[in-house]
Amino acid sequence: MSKILVTGGLGFIGSHTVVELQNEGFDVVIVDNLSNSTEKVLDGIIAITGKKPHFEKFDLRDKPKVEAFFSKHSDIAGVIHFAASKAVGESVENPLLYYENNLGVLVYILQELTKKGEANLIFSSSCTVYGQADTMPITEDAPVKPAESPYGNTKQVGEEIIRDTCNVNPQLAAIALRYFNPIGAHPTVEIGELPIGVPQNLLPYITQTGIGLRNELSVFGDDYPTPDGTCVRDYIHVVDLAKAHVAALKRLVQDNNDSNFEVFNLGTGTGSSVLDVINSFERVSGEKLNYRIAPRRAGDVVQAYADTKKANDVLGWKAQSTLDDAMKSAWDWEKKIRKAKTKLLHNSSQSTFK
Ligand code: NAD
Ligand code: WQD
Repeated sequence: MSKILVTGGLGFIGSHTVVELQNEGFDVVIVDNLSNSTEKVLDGIIAITGKKPHFEKFDLRDKPKVEAFFSKHSDIAGVIHFAASKAVGESVENPLLYYENNLGVLVYILQELTKKGEANLIFSSSCTVYGQADTMPITEDAPVKPAESPYGNTKQVGEEIIRDTCNVNPQLAAIALRYFNPIGAHPTVEIGELPIGVPQNLLPYITQTGIGLRNELSVFGDDYPTPDGTCVRDYIHVVDLAKAHVAALKRLVQDNNDSNFEVFNLGTGTGSSVLDVINSFERVSGEKLNYRIAPRRAGDVVQAYADTKKANDVLGWKAQSTLDDAMKSAWDWEKKIRKAKTKLLHNSSQSTFK
């Protein structure tokens, strides 16, 4: 079984990808510093697959630890690099944290991979590299536009660092996956998204409003040039996204890649407005969502949805789930974690009572 390093493997997308890698027979090693996840996610992975991935907790910004790790695990056949900071607003406030964590770490990993003979890397990129693309759906040839945030810049520059490194290291093969909007949770509700604090993203804010944790959702603008005036995005089920990573990894480990640096958009190919997503929640949950129209949010692009032809034809991957499928998984997950937290609070209050 090929051994695969998954950095950030206890995070939202990483944990779902670990499950799919194990399902395909890969031997998974996770490195995560738990800065945006918890070790409990391991239990969820094991509950789904029955297999315990090897887990090492350390900060990938610690270069000597990265070097020691790759010396110890010299038989790694590929790396899927999820570990990064991803809060757009925080990146504006603290750009150096993002350049260090999202680019410094990438350089350390590339330095280790270029010491090996053959090496394979899958990089978490984002449709944010396109900014407001001129035409929809967005193809991989769409021009990369000036980043709207330091976070977005780390994805653009990250791709360039990988491309430049691959150009002079023919033994290194890499694929950048440009995710659109990942949403949802594993259908077993053993793993899902665990946003810390007030969610910035639409989906967790909707499910937290639905469960009563938030009073109401603010819809950031309904005066955009779109069918219903709200912004349009391509919401892709996180399990579909995870399966795309396995397809991309297999492409590299089986030497099926056409060049040693390739890029793929990962979306459903369907655009959904904010109101479409709210309607999906109400269909799936049977509940009305409390929301109001609020001013536009700075930095929002009007529309972004993927042209999925390249991923379908070349990667041999296609998203299978609908928006309602993803919404149902997100809602089931929200209900589960709230129930678990309420039970925990109840037990602790009971125990203090005793
Ligand atoms: P996440 O925060 O849930 O997962 C990232 C994981 O990496 C976390 O478990 C965190 O603890 C870990 N990590 C961060 N810095 C680390 C470090 N220095 N050392 C070790 N571990 C570290 O995020 P996610 O939503 O799963 O995103 C994964 C990747 O996909 C990121 O690179 C992100 O930029 C990218 N991406 C995410 C989205 C999205 O909407 N979620 C969209 C496009 C791209
Ligand atoms: C989606 C739509 C909002 C919250 C972001 C990052 C991107 C990537 C994915 C990391 C927009 C609207 C949202 C709310 C709202 N992350 N909205 N009320 O902005 O497309 O992408 O997450 O790589 O880099 O930019 O996703 O979920 O924040 O917003 O009306 O409370 O929902 O205006 O139109 P976005 P999002």
